[in-house]
Amino acid sequence: MTSVALLGYGTVGSGVLEIIEKNSRSTLQTYDEFINISNVLVRNIEKHQNNKHFKLFTDSYEDILSSNCDIVIEVMGGIHPAYDYIKSALQARKHVITANKDLIAEHGDELIALANKFHVTLNYEASVGGSIPVIRTIKESLAAHPIKSVTGILNGTTNYILSKMYNENLSYDNALKDAQDAGFAESDPSSDVLGFDAARKLAILTYLSMNKVLKVKDILIDGITNLDEKDMIIAKQLGYKIKLISKAINYDHCLHAFVKPVYVRSNSMYGLIDNEYNTVAMDLEDIGEMHFSGKGAGKEPTASAIYGDILDILLNDKKVITPKLKQVKICHYAQGQHDWLVRLYSLNQPINLEKVLKFFNHGNIEIKDFADSHDLSFTITDISENKLFDIIHKLQDLNVISVSKYFMIL
Ligand code: HSE
Repeated sequence: MTSVALLGYGTVGSGVLEIIEKNSRSTLQTYDEFINISNVLVRNIEKHQNNKHFKLFTDSYEDILSSNCDIVIEVMGGIHPAYDYIKSALQARKHVITANKDLIAEHGDELIALANKFHVTLNYEASVGGSIPVIRTIKESLAAHPIKSVTGILNGTTNYILSKMYNENLSYDNALKDAQDAGFAESDPSSDVLGFDAARKLAILTYLSMNKVLKVKDILIDGITNLDEKDMIIAKQLGYKIKLISKAINYDHCLHAFVKPVYVRSNSMYGLIDNEYNTVAMDLEDIGEMHFSGKGAGKEPTASAIYGDILDILLNDKKVITPKLKQVKICHYAQGQHDWLVRLYSLNQPINLEKVLKFFNHGNIEIKDFADSHDLSFTITDISENKLFDIIHKLQDLNVISVSKYFMIL
């Protein structure tokens, strides 16, 4: 028998309990092992009086540590007290499974080292991509090939919001409310909509796939709150969708990482990923691009990844190896040439189109919208981000325009 204790009984915690119950018979038949739930740690025990599992509930972490559980599953979220609880569990030689990307992005290397020291496993498949088994795949199956870049739609809430705004013309507020009602958004949705949730997941993927330290503070992060209705209209007119893309690119001399809204072709791999679905694409040396997609948020997908982590511990009596992490130089712009959708505004006088075109050398620009002469949209191809940024700032310094934004086109 393997005993597991749950820390937290919110949407995900209750999903884990259900999935263990639902699969107990088949796990016993297939693996000759029964998974038993020893305790469930909650903050307010009174709230759970009518739960049929009430006798398992406790509000004391000491009860968890002193129980005979083999695996502690942390689904509380947030850094504190989860960090201290996980450390104590590892020191007590209990395997730990967590869905907590905040914690892994911030303290993953330290906790993995602690797990190694006490010869136990720390699994965190549910921290990135929900049901998509991407972490174990990168760690084990793709280890032979250096990964040149990782690109993903890593946040279910924002993808759901953008899909509802695009497909059903919902307002941002209504789409966010829908996402919260469906249980995708974090309790404080700002970490979803401002891009921090996706950035933490990108930091974890980069650490795993490139063995490089990427701190969340080194990722350029722009969420979906600065998008306006016109960005959406332009996307539709041009056959694009807007997606919150997370990307880390491993250049020879530096690493560039961002989380920001990007225009993607509606029928491209990324364009077809809608609602709470996530996708992770990796560009591997000698192999090329590989895409993994599936439900990235919600009760069942997250519980499913945690259940996989339990079986992984049961089936693999393995020595955990800590990768040697490399510190890396960060570069602030995407290198090389890319295509962009640019929007320029002038709050005072009309935009002088002649001047704008001169600065961009009349080159590879295609004007998409210049309806009211104060708001100019165009696409520009094959130009580096660095150069684009410089030109736009020169136009701003010369008062040709007052405000600007630009989006990468993938
Ligand atoms: N709030 C997260 C999301 C949950 O929407 O993707 C899963 O990590």
